Amino acid sequence: MTNKNSKTLAFFNGSYMSIDKVAISPFDRGFLLGDSIYEVVPVYRGKTLGGAQHYQRLMDGLKAIGIQSPYTLSDWAGICAPVLLADEEAQLLYLQVTRGNEQVRNHRFPIEASPTVLIFSIPFTSPIDKDYPGCAAHLQDDLRWQRCNIKSTSLMGNVLAYQQLHSDGVGNDEALLVRDGFVVEAPSSNLFMVKNGVIFTPGIDNILPGVTRALLIDIALNLAIEVREQAPSIEMLKRADEVWVSNSMEELKPIVSIDGQPIGLGVPGEIWRQLFAGYQQLKR
Ligand SMILES: Cc1ncc(COP(=O)(O)O)c(C=O)c1O
Repeated sequence: MTNKNSKTLAFFNGSYMSIDKVAISPFDRGFLLGDSIYEVVPVYRGKTLGGAQHYQRLMDGLKAIGIQSPYTLSDWAGICAPVLLADEEAQLLYLQVTRGNEQVRNHRFPIEASPTVLIFSIPFTSPIDKDYPGCAAHLQDDLRWQRCNIKSTSLMGNVLAYQQLHSDGVGNDEALLVRDGFVVEAPSSNLFMVKNGVIFTPGIDNILPGVTRALLIDIALNLAIEVREQAPSIEMLKRADEVWVSNSMEELKPIVSIDGQPIGLGVPGEIWRQLFAGYQQLKR
């Protein structure tokens, strides 16, 4: 997400203001400890895609880490509406709720603070279109914590995965994260593979329950394509006919090689093509 406009309107702790007027305390636990939850919602021509699911995931994350949400589930859409950019084809709405600030740096509880809430929106264009040639990927050990289902802003493991790609000279490629011999996720997207017409995607027990992932599963089922929620082993993934990763910004990005070995024919596959087309329909 890139902000090129200091006039962007933000919602900050109950008020709307220009984003350059937002003043976050140095004692905010989101800043000091990464003690916060965030959400990224894609918006097409002013309408959120999967908005209800994104707001629900935000509430689930807050509950999971014991932050009392200052707003109810049904409040979020109305609070976000004024920050949406007029006349943008596509934008990403960003929400972050921290545990707040206590004027002291302290790990321990109880915390006497009310949550900090920041919301703003940034224009975006998905880098993937139907002619996208595909992306190379590289397996990496999954260095992240054990509660990857929580969309926490503590993203060091995810950031280090991208830093590794960059320092290996392949900063635009994708990392695929391996846990106990199974490929579970990418640093900012969910994983899908296809073998013999069946789609496999890791179950959501300890990965982020991606909203795009859920939408794609629905599209596949509507097309009568079988979907199995199961993480592939490294061998199974490398022998896949198709692989792609999904998130709200890159939508579904085809992976055409893993560690230099071509996947399928080394080009985006037919099932990717069908799901990509189905996803474009949802944006209308
Ligand atoms: C680790 C991880 N997995 C999956 C996703 C995809 O989630 P969504 O489809 O809701 O954007 C994200 C999105 O940021 C992510 O960070």
